Amino acid sequence: MIRVISIANQKGGIGKSSSVIEIASVLSIEYNKKVLVIDLDQQRNLSKYIGANIEKDPKGHNLIPSIYDVLTSDAFITDAIQHLPHFDAISASEQLSKADRTFMDSDDMYLLADIIDSIKQLYDYIIIDNGPSRNILLTMSYVASDEIIIPSECDEGSIDGIIAIYSDLKKLRESRNKLSHAIVKGLILTRYEKTSIHSIALEEDLTEIANIIQQDIGYRPFVLPVRKSIKMSECKGFKQSLQEYDKNGNAAKDYRKIVKTLIKEA
Ligand SMILES: Nc1ncnc2c1ncn2[C@@H]1O[C@H](COP(=O)(O)OP(=O)(O)O)[C@@H](O)[C@H]1O
Ligand SMILES: [Mg+2]
Repeated sequence: MIRVISIANQKGGIGKSSSVIEIASVLSIEYNKKVLVIDLDQQRNLSKYIGANIEKDPKGHNLIPSIYDVLTSDAFITDAIQHLPHFDAISASEQLSKADRTFMDSDDMYLLADIIDSIKQLYDYIIIDNGPSRNILLTMSYVASDEIIIPSECDEGSIDGIIAIYSDLKKLRESRNKLSHAIVKGLILTRYEKTSIHSIALEEDLTEIANIIQQDIGYRPFVLPVRKSIKMSECKGFKQSLQEYDKNGNAAKDYRKIVKTLIKEA
C-alpha cells in the first residue's frame, strides 16, 4: 500500500527539505522502495538541492512542468515527473506564491489528492515538501496525506508551531466531510545537540506533545533526533544526500533510524 507523507512546519530553515531528501534516499537506497518527492514550496529549495530541472524557456515557462502547472491542469502529471538517480521528483515553481489566489474554489483543496491518486500505482512512497506558510497548498497537502512528519528546532515558538499544525489537521480530520485522514506520524528534532539545554528542553516538550496526541487519537507519534552536522549543508553543493555524502556520519544514521521506525510502524 502506498503511503503519502507530508513534511510540514510553518517555520522555515528547520530542516524540512533536508528531511524529505534523507527520508526519500533511505527508502530508496536501503529499502529499495519506489519514491516520488513533490516540492510544494515556491522557494524551490528541495528542487535545487536535488538538482531537479527548474530551467525556463525564453518566455519564462518551465522546461519541465512544475507541480503548479499540474495543479492548474496546464500539464499532465506524467510529464512533470523527473527521474533522478534514487527517486523521482516533481519540481516547484515561483508561481506557487499566488496559490491562495489561484485555488479559491472549495473543491480545490482536493486537487493534490486527485493528482496523487492518478499515479499511486507507480510508487511505494510519495513525500511532499511544504513551504513555510499556512496556505491552501498546506491544506492540499494535509488532504492528500496519510501521515505528517513535523521537524522542529529548539527556539521560541517551535511548540506553538507544532500545536498549530496539529489543530489545523484536527479541524480537517473532524470536519463533516472528514477532509483529511492524516495522522501525525512523527516529530523530528533537527540540529540536535546532546549537550545543549535547548535540545533537551525541546525533547521534553515534544514528548509531552506526543503524549497529548496519543490521548487524543490513540496513536503515539515517534519523537526522534537528528544530530547537527555541517555535512548537511555541504552535501547540497554536490546535489547529494547525506546517505551518499556522509553515510557513516551521525545525522545520516539518525535518518536511517527514523526511516526504520517509519517502515516498522506501517
Ligand atoms: N541536522 C542538521 N544539521 C545541520 N544543518 C542542518 C541540519 N538539517 C538541516 N540543516 C541545514 O539547515 C538549512 C535549512 O534546512 P532546510 O532543509 O532547507 O530547511 P527548511 O526546508 O525547513 O527551510 C540548510 O542549510 C540545511 O543544510
Ligand atoms: Mg524547505
